[in-house]
Amino acid sequence: MKISHIFLMSSMLVSMPSLALSVEPVWKDSSLSTEARAKALVKAMTQEEKLQLVVSRYGVHGGPGNESVPKEALGSAGYVPGIPRLGIPAQQITDASLGITNPQNVRPGDAATSLPSGQILSGTFDPDLAYEAGQMMGKEAYHRGFNVLLGGGGAVLVRDPRNGRNFEYLGEDSLVAGNMAAAQIQGVQSQHVIATAKQFAFGAIETNRMKVDMRIGEKEARESDLLAFEIAVKQGKPGAIMCAYNKVNGDYSCENSYLLQLPKKNWAYRGYILTDWGATHSTEKSANAGLDQESGASFDTKVFFGKDLKRAIAKGEVSQGRLDNMVYRIVYSLMDVGAYDHPSYKSNQPEDVAANEAVSQKVAENGIVLLKNSHNVLPLSPQIKKIAIIGGKADQGVMSGGGSSQVTARGGNIIDQTRTQIWPGPVSYFPSSPMKAIQALAPNTKVDFATGNNIQEAVALASHADVAIVFATKWSAEGFDSANLELFGNQNQLIEAVAKTGKPVIVVLETGNPVEMPWLNNVDAVVEAWYPGTSGGPAIANILFGKVNPSGRLTTTWPKALSQVPYPYIAGAGHMPAIQKLNVKQYSAHNQLVSSVNLNEDGANVGYRWYEQKRLTPLYSFGYGLSYTTFKYKKINVVKDFTSDQHLITANVTIENTGKRDGADVIQVYGKMPDGTPSRLLGFKKVDLKAGETKTVAVTLFPASLSHYLPEKHDWEINPGSYEIFVRPNALSTDGLKTTMHLDKIDLPD
Ligand code: BGC
Repeated sequence: MKISHIFLMSSMLVSMPSLALSVEPVWKDSSLSTEARAKALVKAMTQEEKLQLVVSRYGVHGGPGNESVPKEALGSAGYVPGIPRLGIPAQQITDASLGITNPQNVRPGDAATSLPSGQILSGTFDPDLAYEAGQMMGKEAYHRGFNVLLGGGGAVLVRDPRNGRNFEYLGEDSLVAGNMAAAQIQGVQSQHVIATAKQFAFGAIETNRMKVDMRIGEKEARESDLLAFEIAVKQGKPGAIMCAYNKVNGDYSCENSYLLQLPKKNWAYRGYILTDWGATHSTEKSANAGLDQESGASFDTKVFFGKDLKRAIAKGEVSQGRLDNMVYRIVYSLMDVGAYDHPSYKSNQPEDVAANEAVSQKVAENGIVLLKNSHNVLPLSPQIKKIAIIGGKADQGVMSGGGSSQVTARGGNIIDQTRTQIWPGPVSYFPSSPMKAIQALAPNTKVDFATGNNIQEAVALASHADVAIVFATKWSAEGFDSANLELFGNQNQLIEAVAKTGKPVIVVLETGNPVEMPWLNNVDAVVEAWYPGTSGGPAIANILFGKVNPSGRLTTTWPKALSQVPYPYIAGAGHMPAIQKLNVKQYSAHNQLVSSVNLNEDGANVGYRWYEQKRLTPLYSFGYGLSYTTFKYKKINVVKDFTSDQHLITANVTIENTGKRDGADVIQVYGKMPDGTPSRLLGFKKVDLKAGETKTVAVTLFPASLSHYLPEKHDWEINPGSYEIFVRPNALSTDGLKTTMHLDKIDLPD
């Protein structure tokens, strides 16, 4: 220990300003461990300073309670004042599920890059790209002066294709969601900005989300959504975890001691847990359960972690140690990501917009999924004489999802004035026009547009073209679920009518979830572009013309109809809270809505595993996606290396690009357990292959996917026996190769 530290730690000397000035406080010494520095920092704080750090305020004027926002706040979802005497920066907290948001234009004119939706990011199956995506968001955050992102790790599993927020999540598989979230978190945090894994946990539906109780057994929970979070937290080490609105097994997530203790006790989690906005319901219960920070306190019925917490500590209902631990965790995270040593500030330098938008476009190009391509109608030739583009505001932009993740794009969002203007709206499009990008790639082609509102007009346009591209959109947003899987309005009729012209028809979907496609057999190609982000237009055009060979895969199984999903009926689905988000009281008026969901229905068998268990054939399964080339798996060989305590298992897969174009395949290795439970993804790797090229690729298999959780032993175990190992083009395909692997019983400590 440095002599200066010994001086400073003596309380006598701390009070002697002349000496204190001449020495370096322990917490400033970056050569010491983060633990030691954070501990010393907490010790140096007054009780008032500690209490100040555990509550954030809403950072937008006119929020609930109509408070004004402190002038130091940048304007965003949340703000916690700093403690300058200790060098603790203010926590400037912004939403960023897909990019840095600017709610209600609180920072006038501040626009940002939006990544494509989570289905696309996860559909790339490329953790390196997820890291780049996170890094880009971290850069844009830091540049604006933010140091806490409410995003970077949306690891809720997709269980229902109606969920309004699925576009913020990373699919239905724990391994993919966990790994992609972890990589994205690391990318964000490489920029000295805290990322948040959210929303913890089980937000399978949005309907009645402020109250709904998600009921699930411990084993099923640990092997599904909690496994995704476990991977995200252990590998990504997010500075923050956000607890959810919904209850889990009877207790609100943010005062649920099982949930709040799990990361801290079992996953070696050192960061803090903050609430969602309006998700705090108590003082003692929450604090003692393990909550560390109340967020956007004006959204709660009262400030629970202010005077009430002070009183509870004075009365001994919450220990001083608990408060100290809350504060320790917050400052630990700020230090750990470098937000303490490299405080963010609002930069006046120009940002590298082109580089940031290029990351978003790259994600889109790698994650958009080609669902159908009859007679190789795609890719299009730039020599085509006439293209009819119909619908989806494709002349102007691409759709985005709504709610707190809504980004304001450079150039301004295009608002659908005919639909809701209030939160979670307005229904917005990013100004990245697929039509303009198509015209740019085919400068000699006559490209015409019809809105699609008038079916006859659209049919007339298509009849005189060589090919028709119909853009169909469906808006999803936070706060409500879709009532069904239908496309809104006249879009199905429009597509049917255009298909009847006999011209080649390509449908490009911009949706937040799978949709029913009654016209599927009558069109030639379908591209699922989800919500493709602020550079969606060029990404779509590049795929349509083959400048990019599609390689995205579905991370959500696509049902034939709602009757196939685990909860075909959700009371109140489709009910959009036609209220301002800020009007908290009205949320509680929805007591006619679903009050609990039995998640044990699918339990740990989420998505494709549910279909396998129920012997249902979906329209497309998890992992599905076409390419302009073809691949053949030629060999699979599994190698075990248990010499270390890592239990390393590798599948070596030999794959050949048997087509005429360069392309990328996602090698997916699944395992069928000896206990007969449905197959599970064990490992994946995206690989580029030149036309005709053969490669042998090593795919690491994750022990967590081979094991099952034993609640009575609080342990994970790999069953002894024979495992069937498959390499398949998608989860439920019977194509591909199979081998077997024998494993002895292995205990994996929790
Ligand atoms: C959302 C969170 C978001 C928060 C702050 C809530 O409505 O559920 O994901 O971070 O608002 O805007």
